[in-house]
Amino acid sequence: MPNHLIAPSLLAADFRRLDQAIDLVNNSEADWFHLDVMDGNFVPNISFGQFIIEQVARDAKKYLDVHLMIEDPGRYIESFAAAGAHGITVHAEACNHLHRVIQQIKDAGCQAGVALNPHTPVNVLENVIEDLDLVLIMTVNPGFGGQKFIYQSIPKIRQAYDLITVHNSSALIEVDGGIGLQNAQKVLEAGARVLVAGSAVFKADDPRATISKMKGINPNPVALI
Ligand code: DX5
Ligand code: ZN
Repeated sequence: MPNHLIAPSLLAADFRRLDQAIDLVNNSEADWFHLDVMDGNFVPNISFGQFIIEQVARDAKKYLDVHLMIEDPGRYIESFAAAGAHGITVHAEACNHLHRVIQQIKDAGCQAGVALNPHTPVNVLENVIEDLDLVLIMTVNPGFGGQKFIYQSIPKIRQAYDLITVHNSSALIEVDGGIGLQNAQKVLEAGARVLVAGSAVFKADDPRATISKMKGINPNPVALI
């Protein structure tokens, strides 16, 4: 089983010193930057958009994983790709024509991901799973950082893992929301490969050491047989 990836979410960083947060991720064992775009419509909160991502892209030395929590994201795929996104993840619940949006992401030169809210069953991905690079299982209801991990997500991660295996898809499973050292091993053993962590990293006394500890977790490989 190849190593898992760590994707710190800048949402929990101190935006007065965004440069420091970017440097921190650049100079850590983290693999990706996770960027949370919220429109105040699909989710109650508003965060940031293409402009900020463009600024981050100027200094970031790692993969930019853009998570669009916005209604009808097909309207903005090209502009997020132009802003510097390497991967773009849209919510299944926000797309009337999910298949089309996935192709649009690929045509824009990015890796394509689909996110599922906690109430959305994994089987909505059955007819698109072979086209996906990433399946994002939300482990909180999206919209805010610092929420409590929803434990029912563990069997759901496993269902996503089984769907991917049955369809011989190369999609990675990413988990997002309430992830930290206390549950990282469990989600990895359920099949997750990318751990998003906002508060657990940026609110820690030593964010770099926390990233390193998360990266160093050794899941039991037998768990996935
Ligand atoms: C939640 C966002 C998350 C958020 C995670 O809607 O998608 O990426 O930043 O934050 P934590 O890790 O604090 O739950
Ligand atoms: Zn996110």
